[in-house]
Amino acid sequence: MKGIILAGGSGSRLYPITKVYSKQLAIIYDKPLIYYPLSVLMLGGIKDILIICDEDSIHLYQKLFNSGKHLGLNISYEIQKAPNGIAEAFIIGENFIGNDHVSLILGDNIFYGKLDFFYEALKQKNGATIFAYQVSDPERYGVVEFDDNGKAISIEEKPKFPKSNYAVPGLYIYDNQVIEIAKELKPSKRGELEITDVNLTYLKMDKLKVKKIGRGVAWLDTGTPEALLKASNFFGVIEDRQGLKVACIEEIAFYKGFISKDDFKNLINELPKSTYRDYLEKVLNEFDV
Ligand code: TTP
Repeated sequence: MKGIILAGGSGSRLYPITKVYSKQLAIIYDKPLIYYPLSVLMLGGIKDILIICDEDSIHLYQKLFNSGKHLGLNISYEIQKAPNGIAEAFIIGENFIGNDHVSLILGDNIFYGKLDFFYEALKQKNGATIFAYQVSDPERYGVVEFDDNGKAISIEEKPKFPKSNYAVPGLYIYDNQVIEIAKELKPSKRGELEITDVNLTYLKMDKLKVKKIGRGVAWLDTGTPEALLKASNFFGVIEDRQGLKVACIEEIAFYKGFISKDDFKNLINELPKSTYRDYLEKVLNEFDV
């Protein structure tokens, strides 16, 4: 299974921050936003990861993660020249995906809580799995309609009159056919290759699973200044209360066995003195006990 983080987009709702800065590098409490989606892929056991971003930001992401080797990952980078739509990720990522399956996560999507829904879906052999999450403002998203048996029967992109409160979050799992499907797409009225059209193609082939995510999981969106502040406050409260960090990618790399204890020690030694480093030292010391 390959993983793609889509971290382009125009980020117009976050102007002026995004005039010079990639949205997915915005700060969520104590770390860059992109750490959160990266941590989800890592927790899913995915080590081969492609980050797709705009031309101006690629060097920033490369500076942040390099090859990913220090985390036991293999991270590569591609440019999306313009925000031509989420489904373009599979065309840009064609060589990277190769013959494999792929999980795509949007670089501004945060999932917090028990991620079993994701781990289960990663086991799928064929077709596509997407998720459905209850929100109060479904008209901002792709919206799924279910029949009485809980089977998805329609998906509409940003509908004026949503048929349910179930939005499709920015986390998707596809078999290799997604590349061909993406290549066949025509841009929508707003000029984008729509991920909803990819999902509708799988739905028509009867190869789409839509799994509901329960309320025990937090799916946070970070598209606006208010949402950024709320997400920062949310993780500030949790980290402070538990003394544990969320989306600490170095800790996850160690916990998942992507890196050895010696690698972990070396990695910590490279970090500047900071509360982040103190935290990782604590993780290491507790492991030693
Ligand atoms: P959006 O929130 O739909 O768009 P945006 O990030 O451009 O922001 P705004 O609406 O404020 O202009 O994008 C969702 C995610 O997908 C976000 O992480 C950016 C990413 N994205 C791309 O990387 N490329 C694209 O072509 C599109 C449409 C989105």
